[in-house]
Amino acid sequence: MDALTAIRTRQSPLRLGEPAPDDASLRQALAAAATAPDHGRLRPWRFLIVRGEARRELAEVLVQSRSRREPPPSEAELAREREKAFRAPLIVVAAAHPVVHPKVPEIEQIIAVGAAVQNLLLAVHALGYGAFWRTGEPAYDSGVKAALGLAPQDSIVGFLYIGTPLSAPPPRPEIPLHAMEWTGPDKIVPF
Ligand SMILES: Cc1cc2nc3c(=O)[nH]c(=O)nc-3n(C[C@H](O)[C@H](O)[C@H](O)COP(=O)(O)O)c2cc1C
Repeated sequence: MDALTAIRTRQSPLRLGEPAPDDASLRQALAAAATAPDHGRLRPWRFLIVRGEARRELAEVLVQSRSRREPPPSEAELAREREKAFRAPLIVVAAAHPVVHPKVPEIEQIIAVGAAVQNLLLAVHALGYGAFWRTGEPAYDSGVKAALGLAPQDSIVGFLYIGTPLSAPPPRPEIPLHAMEWTGPDKIVPF
């Protein structure tokens, strides 16, 4: 699949199932992620692979996270939280590991991780699988970060659910470009 086709046809599948990419394909996708634009070549991304039985452990981490939040959850809410770990056969937790750098502010390091995630999603799609990107409150819970072995200064940028799409996504409507042409101060015209 050529690059433009991959970009244009990537969509978040509604549901994912088996199989997940095998290790060789996953390494290809992670290698694609690692080619993201990266000011200072700081490689600020960290990827944690969660699959198989480890998803039960992740489910408990998500349940504990919800239990710490207000309002107190019902059993049904806890069950829904637990189910999130089983939305896909493979979850890649994408994190940013920013460092203090004289030339590269933290925001640039986090953007680089976003670019790496997009590369990974596109590679997964080009390899014939599907993936979707989620965050939600667990991404911002220091207890979840700690359980995943991340440092306090790290940020969870996304939970990437990866597997085989169970259905074709609906056609994508046209998306506005939000592009203008700037030819000087006060001279901005539609593109
Ligand atoms: C940083 C980030 C976090 C996101 N978190 C969520 C989320 O928690 N829940 C959700 O429904 N969509 C989330 N999305 C959006 C979806 O991943 C997806 O991009 C969106 O639904 C558009 O669908 P598409 O990927 O098919 O274009 C997030 C996107 C980004 C970039």
